[in-house]
Amino acid sequence: MRTAIIFYSRTGTTRRVADALAAELDADIGEIHCHRFRPGPLRYLMAGYHSVKGNLPTIEGPDMDFSSHDLVVIGTPVWTSHPSLPVRAFLAGKPDLPDRVALFLTHGGHSPAETAISEFAALLPHPLAGSLAIDHDTALKADISERVRTFAATLIANQAG
Ligand SMILES: Cc1cc2nc3c(=O)[nH]c(=O)nc-3n(C[C@H](O)[C@H](O)[C@H](O)COP(=O)(O)O)c2cc1C
Repeated sequence: MRTAIIFYSRTGTTRRVADALAAELDADIGEIHCHRFRPGPLRYLMAGYHSVKGNLPTIEGPDMDFSSHDLVVIGTPVWTSHPSLPVRAFLAGKPDLPDRVALFLTHGGHSPAETAISEFAALLPHPLAGSLAIDHDTALKADISERVRTFAATLIANQAG
């Protein structure tokens, strides 16, 4: 199974999960960059404002051939209960994704991840292949290897079935 991990991370939390998952799945990895929402307290507020309004930003990367993969796993932080704007912008660009797309997200724990998962799934032409939500503190401070391993094993088993 050829797998690609594509993620956006403003402050490194989602990147930690992306790296662990890429190692577990032996996946190619590509990052979405967004200059508008680079770290900083004012830009945090700006990101929240634009997230509520749904104002999609310009993004850069990743420069990858997504369609040559059997599975693409997309990672995003939750912003105002939505997938982050850079990931929404990525999907709005209609990338040539394979039929199997899964999601992982990190969140601050002050709103459930389900809203963002449903919203993300609704943007795909096929049912979501799986999802994993990890809260910010766990993603940064805890040993996430078991959760990542279980998620990866589920994706591999579903592919085989
Ligand atoms: C603009 C903005 C809005 C956010 N909104 C939410 C939210 O609605 N619910 C939540 O649980 N966390 C929210 N968070 C917290 C992030 O989802 C969380 O800290 C995440 O792990 C950050 O990931 P990153 O370091 O990869 O950018 C928000 C963060 C930002 C910057």
